[in-house]
Amino acid sequence: MKRILSVIAVCIMAALLISLAGCSAAPVKEDLATADEQTHEQTYAERLQSCKKQIEAVTDFKPDVVLVLGTGLGDFADTLDVKAKISYKDIDGWPNSTAPKHAGNLIFAEYNGLKLAVMQGRVHYYEGYSMQEVVLPLRVLHLLGADTVILTNAVGSMNPEFKVGDFVCVNDQIASFVPSPLVGENDEALGERFVGMTDAFDQDMQDTVLKLGQDKNIPVHSGVFLQVTGPQFETPAEIRMYRSLGADTVGMSTGAEVIAARHMGMKVCDINAVSNMAAGMEEEEFTQEQIEENMTHSAANFKVLINGLLDSLAEQSD
Ligand code: HPA
Repeated sequence: MKRILSVIAVCIMAALLISLAGCSAAPVKEDLATADEQTHEQTYAERLQSCKKQIEAVTDFKPDVVLVLGTGLGDFADTLDVKAKISYKDIDGWPNSTAPKHAGNLIFAEYNGLKLAVMQGRVHYYEGYSMQEVVLPLRVLHLLGADTVILTNAVGSMNPEFKVGDFVCVNDQIASFVPSPLVGENDEALGERFVGMTDAFDQDMQDTVLKLGQDKNIPVHSGVFLQVTGPQFETPAEIRMYRSLGADTVGMSTGAEVIAARHMGMKVCDINAVSNMAAGMEEEEFTQEQIEENMTHSAANFKVLINGLLDSLAEQSD
């Protein structure tokens, strides 16, 4: 009996020692919290807020309108009364543009009293960014106050009537060949889960751009834009398919941005600059260099259209 009691006593002592040793090694609650914080990955909503705060630390400018300048159109920003300029790479969490002819600057500028956030270049899905990342800048600028967006891009034309140097004011789009930026958990603070896309393109802005084309003798058409992922250009067979689906122009951006903008209830205007006839439309195959060269010739007319559109928006906001 004595022996049994002493064995039990030894066991209890050992258990006590083990649990004490365990206690001292286990992290206290505070340590746990720190470790948790360290491994905490920033959510997308937090990333939006962090980008917003970093911009607010540089400027208190509150934009009304976002203007996204596509391939070869970035120079337009040089003509503006610039209030603040931030390089994309200086905003932690902001996707940086690696595409040719996309400068990668966020410019806050005034135009006739209108407050503009100008994106000198954008990021594309083909650069390896998710569609959520592609539309992150637009979402941040909306959170800063912008309720209107003017999108521009270089496109190939598959409509034989739309020639290089012409502009197309988009009246509808086909974005079924690229992922939607709205896939995943919905952020109710940005918009509703399901988004109507019937009247995605603001009619007043379309009318303004079309009228500007007539008045200033610049060829501006109405048309349907189709977004592809790129970065390869299309095959002639793909272009024939897209044409048969009702598209007039094709490009590697804007479709997802339009969807994200409509999710947030923003007014959208989308202006395509035709930089080339789409694959198979002409005998000679086009190159990226030709696209960039053609876009330099479109810059002057583009400036006239954008100035006119901004003038009309400035008048309305008076
Ligand atoms: N296809 C896709 N993207 C483009 C084109 C094109 O022909 N031209 C300019 N961006």
